[in-house]
Amino acid sequence: MASSPSYLLPRTSQDELPAALDQALTDVENQFDTPTDLLKQITDRMLWEFNKGLAGAPTDDESFMPMIPSYLQQVPHGTEKGTYLALDLGGTNLRVCEVELLGDSKWRMKQQKYKVSEALKVGEVTALFDYIAGSVDHFLTEIGTSASEDEKLHLGFTFSFPVQQTAIAAGTLMSWTKGFECKNAIGKDVVQLLQDALDRKHIHVRCSALVNDTCGTLMAAAYERGDCLCGGIFGTGTNGAYVEDIDRLTKMGFQADELEANKRHGLDKMVVNTEWGAFDNERTVLPFTVFDSRVDRISINPRKQAYEKMISGMYLGEVTRNVLLHLVDSQVLFKGYSTRALNAHYGLDTALMSALEAPFVPNSTESGDPLAAVRDVLTSSLGLAPALVADADCSAAARVSEVVGTRGCRLAACAIAATVRQTEQTTQGQEKELVFGLDGSLVEFYPRFEQRVRDALVEILGADQAKKVKIALAKDGSGVGAALCAQAAAAMESKGATTVRKD
Ligand code: BGC
Repeated sequence: MASSPSYLLPRTSQDELPAALDQALTDVENQFDTPTDLLKQITDRMLWEFNKGLAGAPTDDESFMPMIPSYLQQVPHGTEKGTYLALDLGGTNLRVCEVELLGDSKWRMKQQKYKVSEALKVGEVTALFDYIAGSVDHFLTEIGTSASEDEKLHLGFTFSFPVQQTAIAAGTLMSWTKGFECKNAIGKDVVQLLQDALDRKHIHVRCSALVNDTCGTLMAAAYERGDCLCGGIFGTGTNGAYVEDIDRLTKMGFQADELEANKRHGLDKMVVNTEWGAFDNERTVLPFTVFDSRVDRISINPRKQAYEKMISGMYLGEVTRNVLLHLVDSQVLFKGYSTRALNAHYGLDTALMSALEAPFVPNSTESGDPLAAVRDVLTSSLGLAPALVADADCSAAARVSEVVGTRGCRLAACAIAATVRQTEQTTQGQEKELVFGLDGSLVEFYPRFEQRVRDALVEILGADQAKKVKIALAKDGSGVGAALCAQAAAAMESKGATTVRKD
């Protein structure tokens, strides 16, 4: 048995594999290897892109992370109160929520999920927004609101795609990601699109804040915990937002006296939406394999979202599927046979990776034979005939999933490490924790996600600094965060601020 990188689980004696399969797996492990030095190089390069973006990379240059100012200059304290609507588009479903902020770091939420069909994702953008407005209407009619009849409801809109934000309630769509590709949307103000759709249906709701899910997650974690440095999503897509010193956001063009005035008013910070999913679109440091290139080439956004395609839930299953097919075609797996599911584009859902790996998690509470559990997944979910699946095939399929998933987690750690280093200037000397509020299906469901990220963080940052990083699950953060942004916008408006859309 060839030796594997030490960050992978040790192969057990059960894993005696036929020599050709063993060799092919070792080759896959090597292609997906992410040694410490590489992780450090990636972190350095990400820091470089952070600062390039803050200084003002041209907005139409999609080779780099955009580092978008969110116009959120304060994070919540936990005392905020009120009832707000929140809309969340950009994950698996559209969600409409009513959030009641109770003012003691707690909230209550009513929510309803609505399915966004594949046809809506690629059709005319007005059809998508009419559907969204219809869902708000349905929510208000069927679920109801606790706000009084004559009160116009403020809505926070979590729109989780790259948007060039120009105010707290305005921003133009830069590009689509995660399988969306609606026509006539790029360059349009998404708040206007939503407001027009709501107005067409005479729905008494005003969109008063536009927010990326990462910013929402950060706001929600700060509301609940009193402190948060970064909100991150590792779900269908990946991205992070963090609190930056405003004088480093040089592309906003503040003059020295304005910066001074900001500081005097305690407005010396701004939440920045990094859009780190677009990191290294230029392919300078990320460890591209032929499998990644294949996934990228037939995606709807080739040569974009390079980092996201190695990390997030939309793509991990697809990379795994491509590696399994390679082993099938090399005649070392499943006796050289594939299935309709395995042949289909996106035919292996990332959720299956959890099912393939969970039986092998050390000290897992799952009882029973791990190989039998994996065989069950392969036959029931991928349609393989039991006679094609030997024990060695079960071990190998679980291993491929682990190799692809572990690379994703280790690369994810680079973004966290880069954020720690970027904010060192302000957090240095602080003994307190550096809180990362994270949400998304990988954080919530992928076995050993946090452990794998933590191991890599220790390698990149060293044990002392890594120890300060606190990973907090910020479940449903984007809905609560959108409500908090609507609250912030309403508060700013009542003080006569001009950044809020008036109607
Ligand atoms: C989008 C981001 C979003 C992330 C997580 C990415 O594809 O570009 O705006 O925050 O997914 O949902």
